[in-house]
Amino acid sequence: MREAIRTRPRYGAVLALVFAVGFGPAACGGEGDGAATEKTGAETTPEPASEAPAASEVDLPDGVTAEMFAQGKQIFGGVGICFTCHGQSGEGMPNLGANLTDSQWLHSDGSYEGIIATITAGVPAEKSTSGSPMVARGGTNLPDDQIAAVAAYVWTLSR
Ligand code: HEC
Repeated sequence: MREAIRTRPRYGAVLALVFAVGFGPAACGGEGDGAATEKTGAETTPEPASEAPAASEVDLPDGVTAEMFAQGKQIFGGVGICFTCHGQSGEGMPNLGANLTDSQWLHSDGSYEGIIATITAGVPAEKSTSGSPMVARGGTNLPDDQIAAVAAYVWTLSR
């Protein structure tokens, strides 16, 4: 709240004094700061929670750009239809896709290359712990570069 007020330079000097005394803008009487304070309350309304951290906040596999990560995230929840079996956040779904957010890898060593290989080849029913297969490329015809992008996003989920 105070940060927001401090961005109003006109009141800077007054507020510095008020804060030095240890009281809030209530001391500012006729200056209109009372209203300003109430407005800043609205600014603390939480943003809608984003489902995955921004690319700038996560490590990416070697050679993967932030653009690829962003594209992969979109593919996962969109044209790649990965979310239909693995859940919107990759948390997995009973009897369908595996949890992709834990550090337990069922079908590869969990390396970036390993994840690409699993997505490209799919998982045959007899190797699936859920009994359901994952067909190659999740049943899509995503080209290799888009598989690499979605694999980069999957890679980040468990890290
Ligand atoms: C029709 C359902 C379905 C779709 C769609 C699907 N998957 Fe899967 N996926 C599975 C199943 C089933 C498994 C194997 C689960 C098991 O063994 O318990 C699996 C396994 C995986 C694994 C291996 C996990 C591990 O622990 O080794 C990865 C990675 C993966 N999927 C990524 C994807 C991506 C990325 C997409 C989208 C391009 C996708 N999947 C689309 C059902 C699906």
